[in-house]
Amino acid sequence: MSKNIDWSKLGFAYMKTDLRYVSKWKDGKWDDGQLVEDNKLAISESSTALHYGQQCFEGLKVYRTKDGKIQLFRPDENAKRLNNSCRRVMMPDMPVEKFIDACVQVVKANADYVPPYGTGATLYLRPFVIGVGDNLGVKPAPEYLFVVFCVPVGPYFKGGMTPVNFTISEYDRAAPYGTGAAKVGGNYAASMYPHKLAVEKGYADCIYLDPLTHTRIEEVGAANFFGITKDDKFITPKSPSILPSITKYSLMYLAKEYLGMEVEERDVLVDNLDEFKEAGACGTAAVITPIGGIEYKGKLHVFHSEKEVGPITKKLYNTLYGIQFGDVEAPAGWIVEVK
Ligand code: PLP
Ligand code: COI
Repeated sequence: MSKNIDWSKLGFAYMKTDLRYVSKWKDGKWDDGQLVEDNKLAISESSTALHYGQQCFEGLKVYRTKDGKIQLFRPDENAKRLNNSCRRVMMPDMPVEKFIDACVQVVKANADYVPPYGTGATLYLRPFVIGVGDNLGVKPAPEYLFVVFCVPVGPYFKGGMTPVNFTISEYDRAAPYGTGAAKVGGNYAASMYPHKLAVEKGYADCIYLDPLTHTRIEEVGAANFFGITKDDKFITPKSPSILPSITKYSLMYLAKEYLGMEVEERDVLVDNLDEFKEAGACGTAAVITPIGGIEYKGKLHVFHSEKEVGPITKKLYNTLYGIQFGDVEAPAGWIVEVK
């Protein structure tokens, strides 16, 4: 390993790596794309991405296995979700193969930044599409950039598999029929202030309720929610304003097919947290973060424990983590090896 990085100390922070991939869309098509050293983009001051939030992004991780192989987890799903986000804000599709090829090129070009097996760290890929070019009115941009850069990362929530507490936000990250299901920057801009309030109150982040009625749990910061009922069912909220988490859908599959659990995607009422003996947040960055407790209207509802991860959450984590790092056999098509 030629990079002088203390892998086990990494958090979730930017670091400039060697090369990133950039492709430009103009006159109806994407160019061939190339790897570049410069981590700065030169774009028009009038770019729609800057003024009207015409942009979207993705996040996926690269894992090093015990025998030194490098692999991606379900990159086709990130490509499909990127395209759903692109369509929602009138940006051109990115072919799935081109998306995966760009990710693979970036990984190969920065292979020394893929953390060693056993450190728990991974290489995070951040693909994004932005509307650029000269434009003034509120309308789709004349040109677009697709970029993929990478950063080695550790845990998103400090503590990794130690439970953390969350508070229910009075704010919404997205409107009822807005852009909640798209991974567009505006949702994240809207989340920064509620996040700050939650951290000031001593919580890791906030939980968003459904924006229409504020009675149902939707998202846990930048991750999806799941709960384990007293009769061992895996439950996760269903709503058109939740970002469809690839980790969540993977866990639903693994809970059912690998752990023999019943799985349901349905309403999760904030007034009925008692139905769960364990709860967690799941996402690429968060992996599985056990939820110790949820604060709502001045009361902390504790699940399994504020200190220790519950046994089912642990089993789910071990299965997912095992697949991602190549220690557990993956369902067909989930792993793309970078050769
Ligand atoms: N919810 C939000 C708002 C997110 O930003 C993310 C991260 O991508 C997730 C959920 C988890 O999605 P995934 O598991 O696909 O990373
Ligand atoms: C992810 O899990 O990849 C995210 O996008 C979460 C956050 C860093 C935006």
